Amino acid sequence: MEFITTVQQMQRYAEQQRCRGRRIAVVPTMGYLHEGHLSLIRLARQHAEVVITTLFVNPTQFAPGEDYERYPRDLERDRRLCAEAGSDALFAPSVEEMYPGGYTTRVSVLGISQKFEGQFRAGHFDGVATIVTKLFLATKPHVAVFGQKDWQQTLVVRQLIRDLNFDIELVVAPTVREPDGLAMSSRNVYLSPQERQQATVLYRALRAAAERAAAGERRRRELVAAMEAVLREVPALVLDYAAAADAYTLEEPELFAPGQEVVLLVAARLGQTRLIDNERVRLPEE
Ligand code: PAF
Repeated sequence: MEFITTVQQMQRYAEQQRCRGRRIAVVPTMGYLHEGHLSLIRLARQHAEVVITTLFVNPTQFAPGEDYERYPRDLERDRRLCAEAGSDALFAPSVEEMYPGGYTTRVSVLGISQKFEGQFRAGHFDGVATIVTKLFLATKPHVAVFGQKDWQQTLVVRQLIRDLNFDIELVVAPTVREPDGLAMSSRNVYLSPQERQQATVLYRALRAAAERAAAGERRRRELVAAMEAVLREVPALVLDYAAAADAYTLEEPELFAPGQEVVLLVAARLGQTRLIDNERVRLPEE
């Protein structure tokens, strides 16, 4: 596996692959890889001849006071896992490489960025849109693979691709879960053993609402109430939001339409750890 740390080397490698007529897939990550990331790499392989994984803990998507400094990092382990999963190249630039002195540009995706995560994490999606743009320009992919776990992020990236005319196909991969339902996340390592057990409440809440939806419940407030009832089982949980919204526009009508695709979203804090999760459901046709 190629290990690349500069944008110039990355662009040269990507250009060589393109000249040989090879299709490139990129899997952007912030490292500390787990099975969720590895499943993205394996899925990328099904869409392209060349898989480039990127590893960059992007400071501009963390708000002040968030966990940028303590975000888990283990480059040697990531390098090994990435190679084992079949990545052809790992692009792991430094902060100075991505944001050199004098850097001033920011990419903002309006609208879809402003709700939910955008409301609770000031500037987060500007940071994501900016770094994803830079990673696309460095890796020159035909395909980009993102996880459904960050559903709103996939919508922001979809809008970014459309608005900036990136000639890139977006592939969204299913969330990989622990056997008890907890969505895999690099941040799960922050959880104490007790919090780790309590964290399963997020998925149970999503499932409760998804079952109501599958049974024909179309009232948004009822779907949210179904999630909140389960989330209350863990008093230590500090809820940022539990919401039900149109899966693509994130609009929140009082009553969803039959057949509408809805996303159920939860974000909450347990001690020092902020967790997010979601589930998509198509409401039954009447
Ligand atoms: O989902 C992530 O890990 C990050 O937001 C991403 C897409 C790698 C951008 O830093």
